[in-house]
Formats: sequence, structure tokens, C-alpha cells
Amino acid sequence: SRPATVRAPAPRLARILSLHDFELAARAHLPRPVFGYINGAAEDNHSERGNRTAFDAWDFVPRVLVDISRRSTATTLFGETYAAPFGIAPVGLSALSAYRGDIVLAQAAARAGVPMIMSGSSLIRLEEVAQASPAAWFQAYLPGDVANITALIERVARAGFTKLVITVDTPTAANRENNVRAGFSTPLRPTVRLAWDGITHPRWLFGTFLKTIARHGVPHFENNYARRGAPIISPNVERDFSDRGHLSWEHFALIRRLWQGILVIKGVLHPDDARRARDHGADGVIVSNHGGRQLDGAVAPLRVLPEIVAAVPELPVMMDSGVRRGADVLKAVALGAKMVFAGRPFAYAAAVGGPDGVGHAIDILQTEVSRNMAMLGISRLEELDRERFLRRAEAR
Ligand code: FNR
Repeated sequence: SRPATVRAPAPRLARILSLHDFELAARAHLPRPVFGYINGAAEDNHSERGNRTAFDAWDFVPRVLVDISRRSTATTLFGETYAAPFGIAPVGLSALSAYRGDIVLAQAAARAGVPMIMSGSSLIRLEEVAQASPAAWFQAYLPGDVANITALIERVARAGFTKLVITVDTPTAANRENNVRAGFSTPLRPTVRLAWDGITHPRWLFGTFLKTIARHGVPHFENNYARRGAPIISPNVERDFSDRGHLSWEHFALIRRLWQGILVIKGVLHPDDARRARDHGADGVIVSNHGGRQLDGAVAPLRVLPEIVAAVPELPVMMDSGVRRGADVLKAVALGAKMVFAGRPFAYAAAVGGPDGVGHAIDILQTEVSRNMAMLGISRLEELDRERFLRRAEAR
């Protein structure tokens, strides 16, 4: 069984004991606009806070004197066996905060045997990520026009991806005031402030940013969409997904016809939308409010998870938003999630520690899951049912 605390693979990570610690380390390591982009949510951060407090609404009721010496955190999903019931959510522009960020995340996840969803809004071309890590899933924001949908789906299939995630909670750009305040835009605006931010964070400037440019040239935002996007540093700022026509259920039906692989819809919060996704041929649903980064005030995924699981019992239901601890993972699993994802913590881990950092983050979370399973008195995730192991918490 796993040790009580995780030993860090590199001295720089020795003081990182939990996923929360990665956030503190990333705040120091990254220039303010880049940290702000990852860290931020929308408007007043109601949803982001709600994502965390939703986990407090449930208490565990452990069982004692159970033999847990041969326990396993493994789970199966879409015919694959994964080492743990959590994975890495799609995080756009990962290569801006970590050198070759998408590949670092994909390879660390593959090594640990957990799923990783590559964001289509990456600075690295999807073919390169598929080649470096064939197990990665691909996430797309699709425009509402048939020619672009068809071109991208063909390209994703040709690259070898077998699992496609369509994110549907971004019909328009969210109000991320924090990005404006932190000086972040896409593409980045070349200002004195940005130059100063770079110079005062030399490990990031030389280890990530200039190294990326030396290897790839100036990367383009939206490298993976049919149209070539703008360079990541450019005076031509602020593009909005809504200029490309809106995705509808008819488009989703078209995607289903075009895509032979596993099709997952991400960003569903209403049970009727989950039913509709199933009726349109989705193979799975990710219940998500985008980490509180889209509609501020949107309900925490954990709160609607049981209803959605009940609405589409034949589909694997996954969730993300606010997962930071093994206990969170286990509460979501007890409420019916087949898999949970975390976004920000893995982005911080990649920024702070590259492949070792992401490996360490996965190890920490998996150790927490395994340790908590022992203390709950279960050896397999299938034993974790809500009636036996969870109670609604009293108001705190
Ligand atoms: C995201 N998220 C996201 N989702 C998506 O479908 N496509 C994307 O390109 C991105 N990009 C992105 C960038 C950054 C910096 C963050 C933090 C998040 C949302 C992500 O997949 C996931 O839903 C949330 O991150 C989950 O919440 P936590 O774990 O960050 O609380």
C-alpha cells in the first residue's frame, strides 16, 4: 500500500504536500497575467467558491475493522482501465505557463495511467500531442458552421485521437474582469508591463516563454482551429468565440454522425440537457461549470450530479470544478461520478515542476484517494455507495 505522505521526486517539490501548495508556488513562479489567467474565475467568483463549499455539504461515515490491505483505486471507463477515478481537465494555453505544457500534462497522465484531456485552444498542434501521448483525449470548442466542424473532426480523427470532448458552456466569452486587471489578453498585448512581468520572472521567461519561441517560433493562439489564429503576442487583441456562429443540438447531431470514436459533452448542468445529449448520441457527460469561469452564479456541479446520474443511468457521468483533495474525488464518486477532473491544480503543477510536478500532483491525489478508502473501510471504488458512506452535513 502507499506511504502515509508522498515523497517529492525533486527538491523543488519537497515542500509541496497537497494540491493547494502548487497554487502558492505557481503564484510566485508565474508572471501576474499568466497566473491570473489560470487562477481567475468570472465576475464575483460565486461559482468558484460554491464549487469548493459543495463538497462541505457532505460528510463521510466510515466503517471500521475492515481488511483494506489489498485495495485498489482503479476504475474502468469507455473500455479502458484507469489507475484512479480522476484525470486532467482541458486547460487552454498550457504551453504559456509550462514549456511544452500540453505534452507534459499528457505524458505525465499516461505514465500514471489517468486520463488527460488536451484543450483545442493550445499553442501546440494537436498532431504533436497525439503522437507524444496516444492515450490523450481531445477537447474542442466548435464553431457553429458545418465546414469548420467537418474539417476539425477529420483532423482530430486523422491525428489518432479516439475520445472527443465538446465543450458547450461557452456560447460567448465570459466576463473575466480579473484578466483585464492582471493584464492578460489573448493574444498577449506587448506592453512595458508585460516586458517587466517577464523580466521579473526569469525562470519562467527563459525556461518557458523564450524556450517555446526558440523551438516553435511565435506560437499562434488557436493553433488547432481551421483558421490560423493570431500570434500569442500581438496588438490585435480579444477575440470572441461568438463571432463564429453558435453551436446547436443540430450541430451536435452532425458531430455524432462524423465522429466514430467516443463522444463526450462537457459543461452540462441540467438533467434535461444530459438526456438530450444522450438522445443525440453522446457516450458520456462531464458535469461542469468550467471551474466557475463562465456564468458566475452557475450551480456547483457536485450539487446537480445526483440528479444527472439519475437522469441518464446508462451513460458514464463525469464531473469537474473545485476538486482539490482525494476526499473530494471520493464524495463525487459516491454521488455517482465515474471520473472526476481537475484543471487549475495540474496547470500549476506543470508550471512549477514540469513532468515531475504533474507526476507529483497525480501521486498526491492518488495517495489521498487510497488513504481515504482505507479509512472509509473500502477496497474498491464500487463499494462506495452514497447510502452507506455519505450523510448530508449540518450547516456549518
Ligand atoms: C480551463 N477550462 C477549459 N475547459 C475547456 O473545455 N477547454 C479549455 O480550453 C479550457 N481552458 C481552461 C483554461 C484554464 C486556465 C482553466 C483554469 C480552465 C476549464 C477546465 O477544463 C475545467 O472545467 C475547470 O478547470 C475545472 O475546475 P477546477 O478544477 O480548475 O476548479
